[in-house]
Amino acid sequence: MTFDYKVADLGLAEFGRKEIRLAEHEMPGLMAMRAQYGESKPLAGARIMGSLHMTIQTAVLIETLVALGAEVRWVSCNIFSTQDHAAAAVVVGPEGTAESPAGVPVFAWKGETLEEYWWCTEQALTWPGEGPNMILDDGGDATMLVHKGTEFEKAGAVPDPSTADSEEYGVVLKLLTRSLAESSSKWTTIGQGIKGVTEETTTGVHRLYEMHKAGALLFPAINVNDSVTKSKFDNKYGCRHSLIDGINRATDVLIGGKVAVVCGYGDVGKGCAESLRGQGARVIVTEIDPICALQAAMDGYQVSTVDDVVGIADIFVTTTGNKDVITADHMAAMKHQAIVGNIGHFDNEIDMAGLYKTPGIERINIKPQVDEFRFPPEASKSQSADGHTIIILSEGRLLNLGNATGHPSFVMSNSFTNQVLAQIELFVRTAEYPTEVYVLPKHLDEMVARLHLDSLGVKLTELTKEQANYLGVPVEGPYKAEHYRY
Ligand code: NAI
Repeated sequence: MTFDYKVADLGLAEFGRKEIRLAEHEMPGLMAMRAQYGESKPLAGARIMGSLHMTIQTAVLIETLVALGAEVRWVSCNIFSTQDHAAAAVVVGPEGTAESPAGVPVFAWKGETLEEYWWCTEQALTWPGEGPNMILDDGGDATMLVHKGTEFEKAGAVPDPSTADSEEYGVVLKLLTRSLAESSSKWTTIGQGIKGVTEETTTGVHRLYEMHKAGALLFPAINVNDSVTKSKFDNKYGCRHSLIDGINRATDVLIGGKVAVVCGYGDVGKGCAESLRGQGARVIVTEIDPICALQAAMDGYQVSTVDDVVGIADIFVTTTGNKDVITADHMAAMKHQAIVGNIGHFDNEIDMAGLYKTPGIERINIKPQVDEFRFPPEASKSQSADGHTIIILSEGRLLNLGNATGHPSFVMSNSFTNQVLAQIELFVRTAEYPTEVYVLPKHLDEMVARLHLDSLGVKLTELTKEQANYLGVPVEGPYKAEHYRY
């Protein structure tokens, strides 16, 4: 079989396949989906464009979608997050060889430029013959490209890259300028063909609700992030694992005894703070929300502001999904060799553009995704000796996927089982989902959790009929009201 794809090295496929085999054992939810739906193939006819970190765990997701009947094209949703052996194994497929790949078209490699990243996204959305009819998104970049393209086509307007408010948006506008010169209906046609999108993360979900509020959403969406078995597990326990994995692989600095600042105490922040404390760091949390600030205080963390602690902390981690949380001024005032990283979805939490604009700033690359920035004495406001440096991880992009390999399989099995269920819902029951943003029903959320209990040796207590009546819930669930917060 010949098909188009672009990955770093198909020679890595065998290594990737071995790790996929190990991951399958750790992903009982996805394997249960294959067992339950592998025969009936509810996704037959689905053409799914996926934009989600191209890791080993994602490889198991992709091959599950294929086992359920879907055709798939894939890209990573971050320039640094691809695991090249995973990408190679997916292209080669379980039955193919490097000489004769028989898997799924993937356009992703670790260390793409921004131009390459958006080129990949466009390639995965551009199908030979008919276009995609489903999107599986993480952060909303694929959804955004289809919407922006449609917007320009409908308005008959020509994008002006010089008006972009960021380097990356400039790249998007350049891509759209080129594509509009080639066709005036490409994105409108793609948008009209999409039955729906299932969105993985907090930031992408935020974008979807904004588009819906503005009346701009082109197709229905399922917010996978807010399944309880996603955000209360992946965002929290996943980051509890992969945050320090990233810091360790990047710097190998001893975390115990250091002062670490975690900006944001949402689901991701809670996992990050716990993991740093687990290593013996003295953790300080910053928050804008009084409820989350109070939670952090009651969990035993000092709660302060970046301004107040910038000169005493050794490690800074942003987890807010917000922008400009750590500014160039903050970085100028940090201790010598302070470590600065972000685990939120986009790279604007740390003002990298402002850092680069600091007069006389010098960038020293230590190794891939680890850079030291040296402030000249005149720009340094640090209490450390003049000429202090800071260490930036993954150029401000999410460090757990840039410096390490992201979340482990077991937690991603929860997230991705929700993704598979959401894809089936939107593809099979399209008519039941007018254009809006939905979450999966609670009985499916409970089912995802149930699928992960046996392998942890968890034994559930069963309600008696009398107890169920007393609580007013069915014996088989769902057990909680919609307003319950877990
Ligand atoms: P969340 O909304 O639960 O938490 C974010 C917290 O940051 C909120 O409590 C908010 O009040 C706080 N915040 C906002 N602006 C702030 C500021 N200027 N200073 C201090 N705190 C501020 O969101 P969640 O689920 O924790 O996700 C956070 C980010 O992480 C999102 O961008 C999400 O997409 C991303 N994410 C990344 C993952 C990864 O593997 N790297 C995994 C899951 C989510």
